[in-house]
Amino acid sequence: MSAVSPSFPPHEAVHVLSDPESGLRGFIAIHSTALGPAAGGCRIWRYRSDREMLDDALRLSAGMSFKNALAGLPFGGGKAVLALPEGEDWDRERLFKAFGRAVERLDGAYVTAEDVGSSIADMKVVSGKTQYVAGLPSKGGATGGDPSPWTAAGVFMAMQAAWSHATGKSLAGVVVGVQGLGHVGADLAERLHLAGARLVVSDVDPDRLSDAVDRFGAKVVEPDHLLGEPMDIFAPCALGGVLTTLSVARLSARLVCGAANNQLADPEVGALLAERGVLYCPDYVVNAGGIINVVAEYLGEGEEAVLRRVGQIPQRLLQLVAMAKQSGMEMNEAAHDAAMEAVAAANPKICVA
Ligand code: NAI
Repeated sequence: MSAVSPSFPPHEAVHVLSDPESGLRGFIAIHSTALGPAAGGCRIWRYRSDREMLDDALRLSAGMSFKNALAGLPFGGGKAVLALPEGEDWDRERLFKAFGRAVERLDGAYVTAEDVGSSIADMKVVSGKTQYVAGLPSKGGATGGDPSPWTAAGVFMAMQAAWSHATGKSLAGVVVGVQGLGHVGADLAERLHLAGARLVVSDVDPDRLSDAVDRFGAKVVEPDHLLGEPMDIFAPCALGGVLTTLSVARLSARLVCGAANNQLADPEVGALLAERGVLYCPDYVVNAGGIINVVAEYLGEGEEAVLRRVGQIPQRLLQLVAMAKQSGMEMNEAAHDAAMEAVAAANPKICVA
């Protein structure tokens, strides 16, 4: 692991996955098991290099530790990141079976589920090889199934609370820029439309855009132009790293609240947002609804546990707003400190950063 930049957070373990027969290539990063088994989804994506793939695994698994800790879940943080094979000539089922075997070999230290690029169907294949998987189809009213609606619900409630805190107003008539109309973004857009918000949207998929125009009367903007568009709230729901020094300089929104993981390109952007009077809702605080549902399924808990924990997201966010104000910290720093405290309280011997 000597090639990894020293700026990366320390991890308990990083497992290299390589199975030439199925084409499986990737990493399972286990950031921390201080609070319990490392839980986090399996991303399958086309990366420019193995180094970029490893970087993503390390950042995402650390984020899962913080997300799970702040959501009060008895789980640590981990993430699987796989390389999407080139071309059409590969067998998806074979690849996910090999992935399932790799998860099983870790003997419960890591629990997987779907993430960007993987699906419930993929996790069903994985479940043929390991019990350490969730995000499976729900059966007979039990928890399970697609976690995205729960993620969207948590983001929406957090946005309502933060906007009301900042302005004393509801979301009616407020202009919200939604970047990415996938599983979470489309659901969030629907909730916002029902709440009377006006939508400005971008996506790289034209079908998703025309759907948003038809259903919500959304205004469509080219992906590169969304951040410069006049808006009150920005909801990043595509990929990470969207808030940079340059992009924040173009942002007119007063609030940033969305589902995408790792929205800040680097932690310093948190200070820049605050300087510009933008309230940043830390991603891993507001997007915890999905993992809350996944964990309830894994533990055999009912929907009331999911509702209770997702319902706590706005209150947790407002506590962080108060903590940041009192301490002079930025929102991202306050969330990081609170998460570290939660992990350290569970097991002070484990070092997380
Ligand atoms: P998804 O893959 O269903 O949707 C992503 C959408 O973004 C797609 O419609 C895609 O076309 C669009 N997109 C890609 N590049 C874009 C660009 N440059 N500009 C605008 N749109 C672009 O993914 P999903 O599940 O909706 O997740 C969205 C984000 O939320 C991801 O960052 C994911 O890690 C995060 N997240 C998702 C959770 C879930 O429950 N699905 C839970 C927590 C976080």
